Amino acid sequence: MELKEAIYGRRSTRGYTSEPVPGPVIEALIAAAIQAPSAVNEQPWHFTIIRSQELLDHISTAAKAHMLRVMESSAFPHHLHGRLQDPEFHIFHHAPALIVISTREGDWHVENATLAAQNLMLAAHGAGLGSCWIGFAQRWLETSEGRLALGLPEHYQPVAPLTIGRAKHPVPPVPREAPWLHWLD
Ligand SMILES: Cc1cc2nc3c(=O)[nH]c(=O)nc-3n(C[C@H](O)[C@H](O)[C@H](O)COP(=O)(O)O)c2cc1C
Repeated sequence: MELKEAIYGRRSTRGYTSEPVPGPVIEALIAAAIQAPSAVNEQPWHFTIIRSQELLDHISTAAKAHMLRVMESSAFPHHLHGRLQDPEFHIFHHAPALIVISTREGDWHVENATLAAQNLMLAAHGAGLGSCWIGFAQRWLETSEGRLALGLPEHYQPVAPLTIGRAKHPVPPVPREAPWLHWLD
C-alpha cells in the first residue's frame, strides 16, 4: 500500500468480525511498530498481546468501572458517562485481539510508545485490518491489578492499548478541521 493511501485511509475501527488474528500477522505488525524512532535509540518497547476473549471482557468491565470512579476528579469528558454505564458497551468493540504497547519509564516513554503505536496502526491498515487506540482502558491498565493482568515487568508503563481485527463494515472517513498554522518566515 502506498504511504499516502495508508495515512489517509486508516480509520479507528469500532466493529470487528470474530476472525482471529494469526500470531505471524501480529508479529509482522510489531516488526513495523519497532521501526519507529525512539529517544536515544533506546527501543524501550514491551508488547502484550491479548487474544483471550475472557480476559478482554474482564478488562472491559473493570476499566469501565474504574473510569467512572476516576472521572469525577479528572478532566475526562463527562458526556461519556452514559456509555461507560451501559452494560452492553464493550470498550474493545469485541475486537479479536488487543496489543498493549508499554515502555520503560523515562523522560520520553509516552512519545516512544505513541510513535510505535502509529506505525502499528498504519501497518494494520496496510494488512487489511482495522485498529483503534482505546483510551478507556489506559487508567485501569496502569493500576496494580491492570499491570498484573498484563504481566508487565517492573518499571514499564502501559501507554497504548490497540484493538486489532478485521473490520465488520467499512469505516467512513472522519473529517479534519483546518490545521492552525502559524508561519514564522
Ligand atoms: C489517545 C487516544 C485515545 C482514544 N480512545 C478511544 C477509545 O477509548 N475508544 C474509541 O472508540 N476510540 C478512541 N480513540 C480513537 C479516536 O476517537 C479517533 O482517533 C478519532 O475519532 C478520529 O478518527 P480516526 O482515527 O478514524 O481518524 C482514541 C484515540 C486516541 C489517539
